[in-house]
Amino acid sequence: MQKVNIEQGPKNASRIILGCMRMPALSVEDAAKMIEKAVELDINFFDHATCYGDGEAETRFGDALGLTGLKREDLIIQSKCGLRFDNQTFDWTKQNIIESVDASLKRLKTDYLDVLLLHRPDLLFDPEQVAEAFDELEATGKVRHFGVSNTLPMQMELLKKFVKQPLKINQLQLSIEQSQLIDQGLYMNNKTTDMSVMRDDGALDYCRLHDITIQAWSPLQHGMFKGMFIDNPDFPELNEVLGDLAKQYGVTKSAIAIAWILRHPAKMQVIAGTMNPTHLEEMAQADGISLTHEEWYRLYLSSGKFLP
Ligand SMILES: NC(=O)c1ccc[n+]([C@@H]2O[C@H](COP(=O)([O-])OP(=O)(O)OC[C@H]3O[C@@H](n4cnc5c(N)ncnc54)[C@H](OP(=O)(O)O)[C@@H]3O)[C@@H](O)[C@H]2O)c1
Repeated sequence: MQKVNIEQGPKNASRIILGCMRMPALSVEDAAKMIEKAVELDINFFDHATCYGDGEAETRFGDALGLTGLKREDLIIQSKCGLRFDNQTFDWTKQNIIESVDASLKRLKTDYLDVLLLHRPDLLFDPEQVAEAFDELEATGKVRHFGVSNTLPMQMELLKKFVKQPLKINQLQLSIEQSQLIDQGLYMNNKTTDMSVMRDDGALDYCRLHDITIQAWSPLQHGMFKGMFIDNPDFPELNEVLGDLAKQYGVTKSAIAIAWILRHPAKMQVIAGTMNPTHLEEMAQADGISLTHEEWYRLYLSSGKFLP
């Protein structure tokens, strides 16, 4: 598995991450097998959030890791905080950030997070409170690197005015079907399609300019958690092209869908959400594929886009 060295962040990080949002569905034993399978595939990066299964994902992972015999220091464990299902708020207050990390560490049965991301912006966020929380978490050794998720460039700039730790990761939604992160770059100034609408303040180019690694979430999903586009009859053209390329490269359609994201020169990481070891193995084959320029566009266009 090719690795990325995140600028002022974790080094030697696998470019495919195992996302653990769906881990509560597994028994501890199966979760252990999933973690072991990831490591066998040379995937050393694991993504969590306090809200996944209301903490159950972190608990399952922490319990399962103990069954594997893997060394904590060989894994890069990332969690996110600030999205609270318990009281239906987004909360980037100092108190919530610190309490969330303490709870995550307890559930994960570890004494540090390699990375902490702020999950989705709190409309009431005060960057000075975030700065205080990050200083404390860094000083106590509880968090080694910091970043954000679903965060606009100007919100990052505002944070950077007060936060002294580098913010070098932004976790954002991207799949062939949910490609709004990149669409606006092609359709700019085009009144005939809403793909020209700048929805994120130029997050893609901002991240590239500032050496911020984008982590693409839900790489196989259409809509917002509406299910997979792979083998979905609503996406016949996309599946035809995925199928052709899968045959050509001798892999599955899921590997081609992941390779499409990895092909982007922004050198993104992709977060795979499967909890099936065979599916993860299939997706990991994307690592060995470098789609041509033409193949990349063929996939893009087959997902309902047109050339302006
Ligand atoms: N920052 C954010 O706001 C945010 C939001 C959402 C997610 N995330 C992160 O992104 C990760 C991935 O999200 P996701 O789970 O929606 O991603 P995904 O990889 O696009 O979807 C995974 C789902 O697809 C299913 N699937 C069915 N057939 C599959 C196949 N052949 N190969 C692979 N998967 C198949 C999986 O089921 P099986 O388990 O049966 O394979 C699983 O339910 C999450 O775990 C989380 O860490 C972040």
